[in-house]
Amino acid sequence: MENLKTYLEANKDRFLEELFELLRIPSVSADPAYSADVNRTADYVYEKLVAAGADNVEICQTAGYPIVYGEKIVDPKLPTVLVYGHYDVQPPDPLELWTSPPFEPVIRDEKIYARGACDDKGQMYMHIKAFENMMQNDGVACNVKFMIEGEEEVGSSNLGIFVAANKERLAADVVLISDTSMIANDVPSISVGLRGLSYVEVEVTGPNRDLHSGVYGGAVGNPINILSKMIASMHDENNRITIPGFYDAVLDVSADERKAMNEAPFNLEEYKDYLKIGGIRGEKGYTTLERTSIRPTLDVNGIWGGYIGEGAKTVLPSKAYAKISMRLVPNQTSDEITELFKNHFESIAPASVKVVVTPHHGGEPAVTPTNTVEYQAAARAYKTTFGVEPIPQRGGGSIPIVALFEKELNVKTIMMGFGLDSDDIHSPDESYGLFNYFKGIETIPYFYKYYAEMK
Ligand code: BES
Ligand code: MN
Ligand code: MN
Repeated sequence: MENLKTYLEANKDRFLEELFELLRIPSVSADPAYSADVNRTADYVYEKLVAAGADNVEICQTAGYPIVYGEKIVDPKLPTVLVYGHYDVQPPDPLELWTSPPFEPVIRDEKIYARGACDDKGQMYMHIKAFENMMQNDGVACNVKFMIEGEEEVGSSNLGIFVAANKERLAADVVLISDTSMIANDVPSISVGLRGLSYVEVEVTGPNRDLHSGVYGGAVGNPINILSKMIASMHDENNRITIPGFYDAVLDVSADERKAMNEAPFNLEEYKDYLKIGGIRGEKGYTTLERTSIRPTLDVNGIWGGYIGEGAKTVLPSKAYAKISMRLVPNQTSDEITELFKNHFESIAPASVKVVVTPHHGGEPAVTPTNTVEYQAAARAYKTTFGVEPIPQRGGGSIPIVALFEKELNVKTIMMGFGLDSDDIHSPDESYGLFNYFKGIETIPYFYKYYAEMK
């Protein structure tokens, strides 16, 4: 593997410049104004897969943005790794909070700053460069298939259809994804869990038009006041969610597992200082690490209505809205929780308002066992390049495709995430460490090597 190291060292500048070129294309899947750019990003991924040596590379059209596929079948007897990643990114706003423009990548303090630097262009591109490196040196130790999509940040609605229609083409022994985070650069971890997601939008309507808040105020239900109260009522004094049946399906995590997860390094004072908060808040009886991994949540992501322009307008609004997400844990399911939310929300609405609940995308939670050849091969790869054993850790975010791969292809996922929670994904000033980018490229080939040996 020494020649891989030499090749990586010799090509670092180019590997970085190619990532920069990818980051310069604003592939915002949520906003149709960027659709030409999103498609252009698929073309770029296509070109780079071809250049790296993949066969049968194809831009697969869907009802939405394309999926880029490519493969290298070395020997049908070898195990097959299916690499998944996404080339779309979150919207960059609020733009004014970026230190440098989101689609003009720069390096500051040994970090690459750009929208998508970590989530997921930087992490996805590591796999293409690791593949190039293997192809240029000892060859690839496993068969590999790439499936890089462009709708992850908007719920991957066309990916399920593609997977179901291409089961044979996608058949693999393991799925490999870098789209999560690790604990710290000197405390590597492998993500062994993801939360699911149920996401709804609510509309609360009071009177049929905006009213004068003096003429009618005090006598007519204000939908914003009412929505606020309804939302506030959905957590009790212990910060547990009050929707009837919400916790019924939740699998309890064993005392041993909870003990192990709380041994991961965590400093509450640093956490508070990093976020500039005076105190933390969460479900009674659980630690911060547990609250962000093994427990479900309900959060308002946005709330609006009434007058929000300059100055003061006295108005009793007709409507109020909110976008609400619920993070789910095994064995909750997205459809069931959405249904429970809808029934509850409708049942607590007073007669003075009408409510409409509209579900958005969702996804199921997932867990990866650690007693498998796949996990052990990944752990050995980290041990080799970081010099320490990685810690298995469940993460709080969602990648709905992981549960889908398990259902449709009957294959488990290994999540080798090289990001950090401080990379500010989805936020202004998203970044990805140079260390992380190159360490990922260095570590991935070892996974192939050990997996081929151990399988
Ligand atoms: N890469 C993230 C998910 C993630 C981040 C998992 C950090 C674990 C740690 C992914 O791109 C993402 O943002 N997913 C969305 C869900 C999706 C359905 C829009 C999320 O978690 O909000
Ligand atoms: Mn992602
Ligand atoms: Mn994301």
